[in-house]
Parts: sequence; C-alpha cells; structure tokens
Amino acid sequence: MTELRLAINSERIGRNLDRLAEFSDAPSPAVTRVLFTPTDMLGRQFICDLMQQVGLQVRLDAAGNIFGRWLGTKPELPPVATGSHCDAIPHSGRYDGTVGVIGAIEAIAALRESGFQPQRSLEVIMFNAEEPTRYGIGCLGSRLMSGRLTPPAAADLRDEQDETFEITRTAAGCVGSLDTVPLPAGCYRAFVELHIEQGPLLEQQNLPIGIVTAIAAPAALRVTFVGEGGHAGAVLMPQRKDALLPAAELALAAERAARELGGADTVATVGILEVHPGAINSIPSRCEMTVDVRDIDLVRRDQVLTSIQQQAASVGNRRNVATTVTLINADPPARCDETVVAAIENATRAANLPSLKMISRAYHDSLFMALIAPTSMIFIPCRGGVSHRPDEYASPAAIQAGVEVLARTLAQLSQE
Ligand code: GLV
Ligand code: MN
Ligand code: MN
Ligand code: MN
Repeated sequence: MTELRLAINSERIGRNLDRLAEFSDAPSPAVTRVLFTPTDMLGRQFICDLMQQVGLQVRLDAAGNIFGRWLGTKPELPPVATGSHCDAIPHSGRYDGTVGVIGAIEAIAALRESGFQPQRSLEVIMFNAEEPTRYGIGCLGSRLMSGRLTPPAAADLRDEQDETFEITRTAAGCVGSLDTVPLPAGCYRAFVELHIEQGPLLEQQNLPIGIVTAIAAPAALRVTFVGEGGHAGAVLMPQRKDALLPAAELALAAERAARELGGADTVATVGILEVHPGAINSIPSRCEMTVDVRDIDLVRRDQVLTSIQQQAASVGNRRNVATTVTLINADPPARCDETVVAAIENATRAANLPSLKMISRAYHDSLFMALIAPTSMIFIPCRGGVSHRPDEYASPAAIQAGVEVLARTLAQLSQE
C-alpha cells in the first residue's frame, strides 16, 4: 500500500463533539441522551447529516441502527466496518461512544481527502442504545444485529412507561420488520471500534493507544422486593415487612461476593435502587434494584452471579418479603481477532505511536460484533480514567491520535 498522508482535522472533531453534546436533556457539561427521545432524534439527525457531508451513503435498519457506506472498488467483498454509539446515560459525559462515531466519520473524511480509494467498502455504524438506560439491556442495536437477542424478544422490550420497543421504534420512523436486522457471520471482513479507555492505564503509562484483546463478560439482574407499607410512626418494628431492608442487605452481599468469590477483575455494582412510595414517613412497600456483575473470567463471573441470585432469595425469605429475581443479561466475554489486532498494531507503527495491549472492562458494541465479524478496539486515554460522569474528558490530541490509527487500520483492512 502506498504511504498514506493523512490530515486529521482535530478542530472539526472537537466542534462536532461539542455540537452533539448540545443535544442533551441535562445541563452542560453533563449529557443525557436516551434512545428515541426528542433530544436523541436531533442527535441522530446530526450524525446522519455528518455522514452525508463526507459522502457516505446513509441507511437505517429496522431497529434504527444507522449505517454510512463508502463504496469500495470491490463492493462484492465483505466490507470493513467501524463505529460506536451516541446515546448517553443520565448525567454522563460527551466522549463515551461519540468519539467512535464522530472519529470514524473524520477518519473517512481524512482518507477521502488523502486520495485513498478502498477496495472493500468501508462502513460507519452508529449503534442504537448501547447504554441500558431505556430498556434495561445494553447494546440493544448490536445485540439484535448479532443474533444474541431475537427480533420478537427485542420487539417486546418495555421501557418504564411500559411502551414496547416495537411501538417506539415505529413512532421514531424505523420501517421494516425487526427480522431483517440480524446479520450473518462473515458479513463484514472486520469490525474496529474506537473508544475512550474509561480506565486509567493509558494515562498512567503515558501511552496514546490501547489495543483491545478481550472484552469482559457483563451480566445484570433486576431484583424486586415487595413487603408491606405503612405509617412510619404507627407500625412497630416486629410487625414490619420493610422492602428496602433486604435490598440494603443484598447490596452489601453483592459487594462481598465480588470481593470474596471473585478475583481482581471481578466487579459488582448496584446502580439502581428505587424505593416505593418514597416518602419520609412511609415504610417502603416495594423496592427495585439492579445488580451489574462483570469479569474477564466467565466461570468466576457466573459463580458471583449465582451467589447473588441465591442471596436475593434467602434474604427475601428471611425477611418475609416477596422476592423476584430476573436475569437481564449474562453475556460471555469476547476474544478479539488476531488479524485485526495485528492491523491496529501496524497502524500504530505507521503513525509512530506506542501502544499497549489491554482488556476492556467496560462492554461495547464490539462485544456483539465479535460474534459476527473479526473484531478489535482502539482505546485512547481519558483524563483520570473517568467515564460515565460529566467531567469525562479526552484531549483533542488524544482523539486525533486515535482517529489516525483508526483511519490507517481501516485503510489496511480494506485492501486485504
Ligand atoms: C456500557 O457503557 C457499560 O460498559 O456499562
Ligand atoms: Mn457508557
Ligand atoms: Mn461507550
Ligand atoms: Mn459501554
């Protein structure tokens, strides 16, 4: 391949990230952008417009995943894909996911401007709802695309208003049957996702690029305790069936299970704890909580998960409250593809950037794309390793380096 002379427009990337961050339901610097809300619809349109401006052919699938394709000189070959997500959990930052979408569009722009012509087509994908905010399950778009989630199960997912995904996606203008969303294995030559690290290692080691070799296995539970409400002054302690107290016990049990049964890579988090009716002077009658458990080792993750499930039942039983435990998801880890890892390594050498091979502790759409395509990820450092917070930050120079490596990786894979 002839030498690529790439001019990555760092200023344009920053401007586009800032403009996307304006589509938010939380005041700046926080970002909240939940699937198919009016705010998200504006963000989605912004991304479609950016894709069109760089000459990509844009299409939506029936789930609302957005694809922008640059036709190669050999369009009959499986394309090379890249991309990430633009939804943002409540009160998060502006870089998670967005760097991998806006950065991918910039990589395409830079390749085009350099005069490069791909053989395989190149495709930028913006996946729907990587975050579990609206439907409780993460990676909705890529999960469906990969076949891990069936179209009928996706259609029937419900949000807090009990509105189904089928109704919402239709109202958002997604046409066609969800049966058309899953893609066959082999449909892409490769998938590469650019993302902020969301951890501290690259910054600590002063390295600009991480090359992901595996993605930790995520799982999540929803636990509901239903006891008996009543007057906080009038009902004496022996008569109570307080629904919050088993939840409190379970939160601590989850921490203990991760620490004692797990290893250094095991983490457990209670991120949602909803207490009903939520009044100072009312005994909680119902409590809903989620437990998120992850590990790079599947057997160990499942041991911790099973222990938490069992403890939910036993604590509810002991406190005489009705307990329901629902498994939201329990996904295996992903191993990244050696050829894609090697292509990223070559790209870092060509860009003169040192790199580190690493695992991803956060999950990404790559976890599911790895089921249908040879996959790896490019990580860039973010300040303090902070993510899912308004003060999440990646510097223009860090993003520029990531986009350069992505562009070079796509170029190489598209010629193979
Ligand atoms: C998704 O963003 C996750 O890794 O939790
Ligand atoms: Mn995230
Ligand atoms: Mn993300
Ligand atoms: Mn993620």
